[in-house]
Amino acid sequence: MKRFKSIAIDGPAGAGKSEVSKILAKNLGFLHVDTGALYRAIAWYMLNNSIDDKEMHNKLDKMKIELKFQNTEQLLFLNGVDITDKIRTQQISEAASQISSFGFIRDFLLSTQRNLAKHNNVIMDGRDISTIVLPDADVKIFLTAEVHERALRRMKQLKENGKNCNFEEILESIRVRDKNDSTRKIAPLKPSKDSLIFDTTGLSLDEVVSKLLKYIKGVI
Ligand code: DC
Repeated sequence: MKRFKSIAIDGPAGAGKSEVSKILAKNLGFLHVDTGALYRAIAWYMLNNSIDDKEMHNKLDKMKIELKFQNTEQLLFLNGVDITDKIRTQQISEAASQISSFGFIRDFLLSTQRNLAKHNNVIMDGRDISTIVLPDADVKIFLTAEVHERALRRMKQLKENGKNCNFEEILESIRVRDKNDSTRKIAPLKPSKDSLIFDTTGLSLDEVVSKLLKYIKGVI
């Protein structure tokens, strides 16, 4: 049986995981799986329907969350509706971080993530890919950067998408998410023992991509 290759990229909010993974995926011809989108889908559903975690527990079985791919790019469908462009707001970022501490939500999303890696060559980015989702990944990278630089990158991204934003608010929101994501009891954000820890502070996107591409090609 053909075994597909997998590259796990974890790291805190704003480290550039998605942007970098997207380019690496195009270069390698792998699927880019942005797992944060799955948590964002549930957060979006809960906010839109004003439901709490207890109600969500009962509704989860009836929810169909699908990642579809256009070439190597990811689209997010919730119960058949494309919500890809609806989940990139500060409010959803914070809500996704909060609901990601619930074990029943993490368990629900695990098979979707593992199935994608079972049937495709993937670059999967998230918080617990190296530690929990794909502990046997061929390459494991923990991407990070100094918090102010991450906030600046996030602000640039939001502005490019035409969203209003304030630096101090973004910085605070990233700090809160760092704390939530890395101190939760289940699958906290942390590098696995065998991850390459890569600090991108002061590096351009091109520099990060070319260094990582060289590293990945040396391993797989
Ligand atoms: O990567 P992102 O910013 O889209 O993720 C949003 C939130 O989802 C993040 O703050 C924590 C949660 N998340 C997670 O717990 N595990 C993952 N593998 C991916 C995201």
